[in-house]
Amino acid sequence: MKIIHVVGARPNFMKIAPLMDAVIAHNHSSKRHINQVLVHTGQHYDEKMSRLFFDDLRIPKPDIDLEVGSASHAEQTALIMERFEKVCLREKPTHVLVVGDVNSTIACALVASKLNIRIIHVEAGLRSYDRTMPEEINRVLTDAISDLLFITEKSAEENLKREGVNGDKIFFVGNVMIDTLLKHKEKSQESDILNTLRLKAQDYAVITLHRPSNVDDQNRFKEIFSALNEISGKIPLVFPIHPRAKSSIDKLNGGVNNNITFCEPLRYLDFLKVMSDARFILTDSGGIQEETTVLGIPCLTIRENTERPVTISQGTNKLVGTGKERIVQEAENILYGNTQNSMIPELWDGKAAERIVKILAISEK
Ligand code: UD1
Repeated sequence: MKIIHVVGARPNFMKIAPLMDAVIAHNHSSKRHINQVLVHTGQHYDEKMSRLFFDDLRIPKPDIDLEVGSASHAEQTALIMERFEKVCLREKPTHVLVVGDVNSTIACALVASKLNIRIIHVEAGLRSYDRTMPEEINRVLTDAISDLLFITEKSAEENLKREGVNGDKIFFVGNVMIDTLLKHKEKSQESDILNTLRLKAQDYAVITLHRPSNVDDQNRFKEIFSALNEISGKIPLVFPIHPRAKSSIDKLNGGVNNNITFCEPLRYLDFLKVMSDARFILTDSGGIQEETTVLGIPCLTIRENTERPVTISQGTNKLVGTGKERIVQEAENILYGNTQNSMIPELWDGKAAERIVKILAISEK
């Protein structure tokens, strides 16, 4: 068995790290070796969006870097496909493993499917049912052509079955991103980032925004920012800026309260520390909804929908939409101490990658 693991964008790195470790552990204890190759598409390429994550998570240097960089959706996807096809023809993998829902995920899955290489999709079946999200298209299409679909929550199984995916291909294994979080939680406590950003534990909230629907639409961005300005009158806010949000922030022309601290994207261990000690988080990210649920930190998701419903039904997450009034009101609720009870979802226990590799090893017998 020879697996090519694909990473491209920031949220992929924390998902691949435990999978590669689990393959190494399997190879130590089994005679049936699994060969693994790591391909980075280069979708994210800034040091702060990519290399520092490899350092913090001790991911081996990619064997192959496709260096595609930024472009329109079609150009980026096409360039990844063109370059990845050559890699597959040369490396002759039996399996291609893709994670999540970014352009690199669908591009590499599509190449593999045409070459009759088996596709493993980790974090399959999540659905926002909002087809204006580029990630939703990537999820639906990747799942339709995958051979082994590993899911993080039970809702994913219903979604996949509704789309006609055979139940034999679906495996509920837990959440590999949470494997990484649990492994690094203690180490992240050593980070000095609160001092660097002049923050006091429990006395600040974190904001992250990067969804095109929130940051590329200047009117909506302004509306969200007027909520943030108001909230920052009650508690300091820290905002690590995703490259996509940068130009929209510049266009605000200083219309930002000085109780909001901006900083560059944070590296993994620093961000984990910043999340762990926050009073609450405001975000439009997918992964942060899950991470805050495990950390027990209230999360207000600035979106109308989520593909991760277990974070609401069991976790600390709440959808608050994009209107000022609701965002401010929900933040005040938290500040007044009104938070929801939460629990850690089933199988989010740090062992998801181990389960996946066990299943892969059996599937090859
Ligand atoms: C991508 C994913 C999104 C994921 C996010 C995490 C898709 C469709 N979207 O969105 O699901 O949540 O990554 O970050 O795959 N840029 C840089 N440096 C970089 C990378 C990007 O400056 O290292 C800038 C470029 O100007 C680029 C813009 O950010 O045009 C957006 O990057 P892109 O990879 O296209 O999408 P993201 O918005 O990051």
